[in-house]
Amino acid sequence: MFPFIRHHKRAPDVRSDVVDFGGHGYEGINLASQDYLGLARHPEVIAAAVDACMAQGTHSAGSEPMGGGLAEAQLLEAELADFLRVPHVVLFPTGWGAGYGAIKALVRPYDHILIDALAHDCLQHGARSSGATVIPFAHNDVVSLERRLRRIQGRPVPGGVLVVTESLFSMDSDHPDFETLGETCRAHGAQLLVDCAHDLGVLGPSGRGVLAESGTLGKVDILVGSFSKTFACLGGFVATRSRAASYYVRGFGGTHTFSNYLMPAQIAAVRASLRIVRSDEGERLRREALRKAALLREALEPELEVMGRLSPVVLATIGSEATARLAQRECLRRGVIVNSIEFPACRRGQARFRLQASPRHADSDLQTAASIIVDSVSDVVALSRGNSCRDTVACTDRSGRAG
Ligand SMILES: Cc1ncc(COP(=O)(O)O)c(C=O)c1O
Repeated sequence: MFPFIRHHKRAPDVRSDVVDFGGHGYEGINLASQDYLGLARHPEVIAAAVDACMAQGTHSAGSEPMGGGLAEAQLLEAELADFLRVPHVVLFPTGWGAGYGAIKALVRPYDHILIDALAHDCLQHGARSSGATVIPFAHNDVVSLERRLRRIQGRPVPGGVLVVTESLFSMDSDHPDFETLGETCRAHGAQLLVDCAHDLGVLGPSGRGVLAESGTLGKVDILVGSFSKTFACLGGFVATRSRAASYYVRGFGGTHTFSNYLMPAQIAAVRASLRIVRSDEGERLRREALRKAALLREALEPELEVMGRLSPVVLATIGSEATARLAQRECLRRGVIVNSIEFPACRRGQARFRLQASPRHADSDLQTAASIIVDSVSDVVALSRGNSCRDTVACTDRSGRAG
């Protein structure tokens, strides 16, 4: 019943062949890839990566301080800075490393961090390892944040205050009201760090994300992002208006400073993805990605509660972990590859399916997938009615089928 860890036999695509942790193979409609705009299969992105490998090989010489930086990466930093309308960008080997490294580099033990209770693992780890006083506030709740800011202001605080959140929480498809959040931070002299891993490139005007939707993109002090979703590659970045902060992040963000630099093919693939994101084609792909996500939501919604706002991530509420695990396995058997999310990625008893449609999915596949998901969940619920969860799991394991 272990729902995590699957390997693709071939390239992950809208239909995939996977093998699970127990060695069982499944084939079907794949709703478990974070390639939000389908750029991982885009000929220009692939050609850029191949050309970079042929011209420059597969390696960067070392970490940036040890001379591993690449001239082409400076172009990517400048292009991202222009896209984000922020002057300074630092690249990281992963988005996780960017979130962790930014906080670790900029915060000291005498500072305070106020962090959304559901913020991503990289942000939580960065906050804890900074040694600062870390205070969680209720998810997306600016009133809860302000109460804590007032409490801190009532005490003699030697250092600064950093507020940490995300511009699209991928396990809930929601975000705070950034106008009010920004005003609250400014009113209390706090700095704001936002992780835009899931919305940059796919949501907002010209793909500039949820912050641009609310007109607050240029007002965030530290922006953290990832290339592993819309940008169809691997890597991350920190963007800031402050030159000093960018130098600190380069020098003290351990995940940048002490890791080998991104390889040429990554830089080239991300640059190609960014060019597409900024083009008319990018605009069309965003519209199509959201149309597919809306189609999937509508097909699920009569039977399952779908969480949050329209975004590339569609979250169908399941509830009990036992039901989610059984239903996920049924989906795999019936030809739909889905991710089942449970604690610690969300609260206990609030398991959910996390689904991602890309512009490349056929409408008919999404309709088919939605009805398989709904049937799988309702079959498992019917089976477990009258049984305890333990009985349900045991019965399903013995028979090899959930019904
Ligand atoms: C908010 C957030 N930040 C960072 C990351 C990590 O990004 P990466 O895969 O580039 O390490 C994720 C991954 O899902 C994420 O959701």
